[in-house]
Amino acid sequence: MSDQQSNELIILRSPTVADGADLWRLAEGTGVLDTNTPYAYLLWARDFAETSVIAEVEGEPAGFITGFRKPSDPSTLFIWQVAVDSRFRGRGLAKKMLFDLVDRVTAAGASRLETTITMDNEASQALFAALARAHGTEMSRNPLFTADLFPSSGETGEEHADEDLYTVEPLQAPGS
Ligand SMILES: CC(C)(COP(=O)(O)OP(=O)(O)OC[C@H]1O[C@@H](n2cnc3c(N)ncnc32)[C@H](O)[C@@H]1OP(=O)(O)O)[C@@H](O)C(=O)NCCC(=O)NCCS
Repeated sequence: MSDQQSNELIILRSPTVADGADLWRLAEGTGVLDTNTPYAYLLWARDFAETSVIAEVEGEPAGFITGFRKPSDPSTLFIWQVAVDSRFRGRGLAKKMLFDLVDRVTAAGASRLETTITMDNEASQALFAALARAHGTEMSRNPLFTADLFPSSGETGEEHADEDLYTVEPLQAPGS
């Protein structure tokens, strides 16, 4: 990390509807995430703000995580999308956001995390492995949304890879 980077002001906070368009821009900008509609990000920022986070570096939107507590099992935090603008990658920003969000949600009673990752996404696998290490626990992987469940490439223009389910548990609440 350069001296300039170490002096940068990083703010992590729950998104508001005013951030919805930035969430969409950040997702679109990754070039690899399934970009949802702008409406979906507005809705997320309104109704799932407590389980989501946006990062600002020097006042600029730099990354986000969207998540929710599963209605059928509120002890599980499902992480839906993680995005960091390419200019801010490789300096621990995704880790900061994830650790901050997990602290917040475990303090409110969650003890388990789920997410899905494709086999080729090493950065995302490393991110959740780092979380498991920090919580002194294991990460497991199981098939979930296999490629055949997605619309065909003839319909969407591209093949969708298998999305494996990664589970990290138990998570420790801060100070426990
Ligand atoms: C995945 C992503 C969010 C990581 O953001 P980031 O801020 O660069 O990640 P961090 O710097 O916090 O690094 C987190 C971990 O991943 C590792 N990592 C980061 N980039 C990596 C890469 N390109 N290849 C392999 N490992 C990588 C880091 O070394 C770190 O692991 P460590 O603690 O064991 O050293 C970012 O690359 C991104 O937005 N990618 C496109 C969207 C995406 O794939 N999202 C995830 C699926 S929802």
